[in-house]
Amino acid sequence: MRVEKLSIQALRCLDDVTVEPAPGMNVFIGANGAGKTSLLEAVFLLSHGRSFRAGARDALLQRGASALTIYAELVRDDGQRRRVGLGREGQRWQARLDGQSAPISQLVSECAVVSFDPGSHALIAAGAEERRRFLDWGVFHVEHDFLDLWRRYQRALKQRNSLLRAGETAGSLYLPWERELDDTAQAITVWRKHYLDQLLVLVTKYVAQLVPELGSVALRYRQGWGDEWSLGETLAAQRYRDMGRGHTTQGPHRADWTVSYEYAPLREHLSRGQEKLTAVACLLAQAELFAQHAGEWPIVCIDDLASELDQIHQAGLVGQLRDAHAQILISGTDCPPSLRSDALLFHVEQGRVSPLL
Ligand SMILES: Nc1ncnc2c1ncn2[C@@H]1O[C@H](COP(=O)(O)OP(=O)(O)OP(=O)(O)O)[C@@H](O)[C@H]1O
Ligand SMILES: [Mg+2]
Repeated sequence: MRVEKLSIQALRCLDDVTVEPAPGMNVFIGANGAGKTSLLEAVFLLSHGRSFRAGARDALLQRGASALTIYAELVRDDGQRRRVGLGREGQRWQARLDGQSAPISQLVSECAVVSFDPGSHALIAAGAEERRRFLDWGVFHVEHDFLDLWRRYQRALKQRNSLLRAGETAGSLYLPWERELDDTAQAITVWRKHYLDQLLVLVTKYVAQLVPELGSVALRYRQGWGDEWSLGETLAAQRYRDMGRGHTTQGPHRADWTVSYEYAPLREHLSRGQEKLTAVACLLAQAELFAQHAGEWPIVCIDDLASELDQIHQAGLVGQLRDAHAQILISGTDCPPSLRSDALLFHVEQGRVSPLL
């Protein structure tokens, strides 16, 4: 999959920008504050319906502007074309697919982007939410019924939480929602575990190339409640405790997964660089697993490559992506040496983007 044309209006410093990236490597070069991350952020927004920068929702809209739009023409490897758009006016986000209004989830399913950026080590170092998002993005693109299931789970969770907050004590009011949570939780857990099993094969391959010094790797899933009871039984037993907390404290919405190595069993054993390389391995594995299922690679964005990895690891990563024939959008204050020969270069300056000929 690749983006053939990208237009952005009023996203941060990008006032009105149109870019036509090449099918392979593209490097966006510019000084600090020029707008490079914002450009990649636009592509990520189309594919995730949110930014990769934490807490960025309100800051996305250019100061003084009332609306922002992002539009892309996507070409699938089989030649199919899609026009996707995402806009925000006031507080409202609206997605468009081939000229028609569409739910954001449909946009997300049409546009697949995997991104590595200065925040990516959070996948390893930060809280569970980041890892659940990563996992669910992957499952969503492999199991197309996952979103429905997840929505059913969220609806039942909301209902149970309302009962808890209202201080309801009648078990009969909880039972239907707890049964629904139990059903959906089992299926969510099966899919997530299955996804991690498939991911492990590829993570193992990338880890052996990127951090061979850490030995073999394992991925462990924690389902969000104890193994010895079903979720329904757990919730029934936890009602009074949950009432005190005002929300449901166990379930797949509290799940997590961890990466552990033979020579670094805890994440605290990893250096910052090893955390980043582990995140790269997971992201590459996710991109390749997507490719196995979808028959094509997602678009890969790498923000600030040179500041994230040393030259040897940069060259290794670029080599892997070149072999995959994925479309790559890389940003940096300079062009990495390993890319000088075959990348299309763009210059980014004060929110303007132009190809470097
Ligand atoms: N809502 C906004 N409205 C206008 N300008 C904004 C807004 N949010 C951020 N900016 C500005 O947009 C510019 C581009 O930021 P961006 O993070 O894309 O730069 P960058 O090229 O990635 O820089 P760096 O090399 O430092 O990472 C910055 O100067 C920033 O101050
Ligand atoms: Mg940046």
